[in-house]
Amino acid sequence: MSWMITGGAGYIGAHVVRAMRAAGQSVVVYDDLSTGDAARLPDGVPLVTASVLDRARLDAALAEHRVRGVVHIAAKKQVGESVERPLLYYRENVTGLQTLLGAMVDAGTERLVFSSSAAVYGMPDVETVTEDTPCAPMSPYGETKLAGEWLVRAAARAHGLRVASLRYFNVAGAATPELGDPGAYNLVPMVLERIEAGLPPLVFGDDYPTEDGTCVRDYIHVSDIADAHLAAAEHLETAPAATELTLNIGRGEGVSVREMIDRLLAATGRTDLHPETVERRPGDPARIVASADRIRAELGWSAAHDVDQMITSAVAGRRHTHG
Ligand code: WQD
Repeated sequence: MSWMITGGAGYIGAHVVRAMRAAGQSVVVYDDLSTGDAARLPDGVPLVTASVLDRARLDAALAEHRVRGVVHIAAKKQVGESVERPLLYYRENVTGLQTLLGAMVDAGTERLVFSSSAAVYGMPDVETVTEDTPCAPMSPYGETKLAGEWLVRAAARAHGLRVASLRYFNVAGAATPELGDPGAYNLVPMVLERIEAGLPPLVFGDDYPTEDGTCVRDYIHVSDIADAHLAAAEHLETAPAATELTLNIGRGEGVSVREMIDRLLAATGRTDLHPETVERRPGDPARIVASADRIRAELGWSAAHDVDQMITSAVAGRRHTHG
């Protein structure tokens, strides 16, 4: 019996694969390699190269590997791109999930850990968001994640599935340098790229209603994200039918963009580069910080890495990939 990790060849997925294997779980990866990289997988992990929209391949994979549960990470995840290409995002993220759930129900695969996002909250007007803070996504990307949560919950109720939706906050850091960096349009990789090019890092707006005027986020180490998936999967192993959990994965600590940039400059020894403030990026909430109380209570999980560890490992991962 295995757990199937969709998107397991992606940056977060490859960390989840390692965490689950280290805990003794047998895993199979299902990834279309559109953004994933098979080289991220440890030796001996079976890879099914197929799309989550491909029902026949899903049916075959669930049967062949006797899948007892799925960690569904495969998705499109660029907020800006989702505004340009909403149909693509709904197809991949919502129709893909619906196709997967159909295959799971028919195969009798009863457990699902679903990757959701803090993007479901939109622009929350609270110090820390709990899972009961109203959701008002600001982008098609966030909408597809909220619709995904609804679909997962409805399927759990109708078909007795055991499910957990994990709302990721801002993922940073690298567990092992050989997994490289996420290569995404996020603060840490973008700042490191500027520093490498000898350019000043960019601050997207410093007139927000926060202490230093820059946006505040809740950063979480990718290894901690991976361990939270493992904790959720293990919880679902013994959970009763129709269990449904929705959990923030964050640390509950707000860090400003200015502070992150200063720490990255210090870690790379480039305090001579002075951050440059440019226009606000449309759609950025001033502050979004998780309450991590529910996940601690439900799964006994809390983050083990602090911001310094995220920064040190991100710098090491970047050096490994980009020399
Ligand atoms: C963080 C802050 C930027 C680059 C996104 C998605 C979210 C989730 C995580 C999931 C913002 C500022 C950035 C730079 C800057 N994705 N910034 N200079 O937007 O909080 O969250 O990633 O899959 O759903 O929305 O993350 O890292 O892009 O930005 O000032 O060069 O850094 O404006 O305030 P964000 P981010």
